[in-house]
Amino acid sequence: MPPIALSRSANLELALYAAGDAVAQVRAGRNLSDALARPEAGASLRSAVQDLAYGTLRNLGLLDALLSELLRKPVKPALHALLLTALYQLRARPRTSHTTVDQAVRAVARLEPAAKGLANAVLRNYLREADALVARCDSDIAHYSYPQWWIDRVRAAWPQHWESVLNAGNLRPPMTLRVNRRRLTAEQYLAKLGESGLAGELIGPQAILLERPLPIESLPGFGAGEVSVQDAGAQLAAQLLDVRPGMRVLDACAAPGGKAGHVLELADCALTALDSDPARVPRINDNLARLGFSARVVCADCSVPAMWWDGAPFQRILLDAPCTASGVVKRHPDIKWLRRESDIARLAATQGRMLDALWQQLAAGGKLLYATCSVFPQENAQTIESFLARNDRARRLPLAGLEGGQLLPDARHDGFFYALLERQ
Ligand SMILES: C[S@@+](CC[C@H](N)C(=O)[O-])C[C@H]1O[C@@H](n2cnc3c(N)ncnc32)[C@H](O)[C@@H]1O
Repeated sequence: MPPIALSRSANLELALYAAGDAVAQVRAGRNLSDALARPEAGASLRSAVQDLAYGTLRNLGLLDALLSELLRKPVKPALHALLLTALYQLRARPRTSHTTVDQAVRAVARLEPAAKGLANAVLRNYLREADALVARCDSDIAHYSYPQWWIDRVRAAWPQHWESVLNAGNLRPPMTLRVNRRRLTAEQYLAKLGESGLAGELIGPQAILLERPLPIESLPGFGAGEVSVQDAGAQLAAQLLDVRPGMRVLDACAAPGGKAGHVLELADCALTALDSDPARVPRINDNLARLGFSARVVCADCSVPAMWWDGAPFQRILLDAPCTASGVVKRHPDIKWLRRESDIARLAATQGRMLDALWQQLAAGGKLLYATCSVFPQENAQTIESFLARNDRARRLPLAGLEGGQLLPDARHDGFFYALLERQ
């Protein structure tokens, strides 16, 4: 586990307290970004809290198992989450363990004064017996830090790669940029980074993997639309869609507009960007405006065309479908603990309905790209196979370098699935 960097002004006691609170909220069903939205906190405290909460959720399977070994009887959820966060910090920064115990006990005193002695004993017992305790935590859940159903499904789907898929999801995510080729080439932007003392590596036609993540304000030309932040796997979508100038294109699930912006960078087309979430739709406009583009942006349900479609067919359709997001857990470790196994079949049914509705809007000879950020075949290959079985005019086109359409996650990119369908 990599260490967290606390600046001198950040207070570990407060950071542990706030991160424990965020972890408790996730365990109660809230997503992590909402749980972390604390406008009152200063920037250094915010980043410390974020590091602790993300790290704890990445390693939750092991931390949970360790805490069960250390506790003789159950404690309240808020205290449990705070102790998990303190254990994470002890494992991440073993050299400052005495400070951590001291600060964690203070944080517990804020939450439940009567539990100070218990917290002190639990954390000191961990330090005394860490190796033996870890050795006793030998379940799959503790080892991989995913729910058992998730481990079983990944193992069944990817018998050769299941461990690397699971392990990739527990890494810290890299930061990858997409260079706006209407403004400059990726090589020119790399040189620009170098002039600012920053380094990166070209890993796709417009994709630059930064040597280390940075705040976007530090990126030269970001405000002027020279680059966007987008995972290298996500950058395949616009490339595969094969859009030419002048085409009528639909991005059916467009918010916040990452792939829509890329489509417009690649070809001057007539884009309709649709999303059903009114809170996310304005972000499409913001993202396109920063890049200097415009599109017809609509808030509507893509599976009910009567509400928004004028009847003119599209030559290209991108369906970046809602999915479990099982391929992007290194960016969103809360997903591992918030998803239920039953979500997969529910989402697969929604995806099938969306495909059926959008297919009616595709011009003859047109192409529809189906995309998810998932590694579960039920919402990927199986959704497409069922669709092909009920549509004899749909042909799946081969995608070079993406056997079966699946890009499995690794240290450099997230996991995605792509299927390009042509209407005969
Ligand atoms: C994977 S995200 C899209 C990401 C986006 N393509 C990008 O690259 O920035 C899926 C989106 O589908 C939207 N969505 C879910 N159900 C929808 C529906 N029935 N019609 C339109 N959009 C929908 C969600 O609001 C969400 O923004």
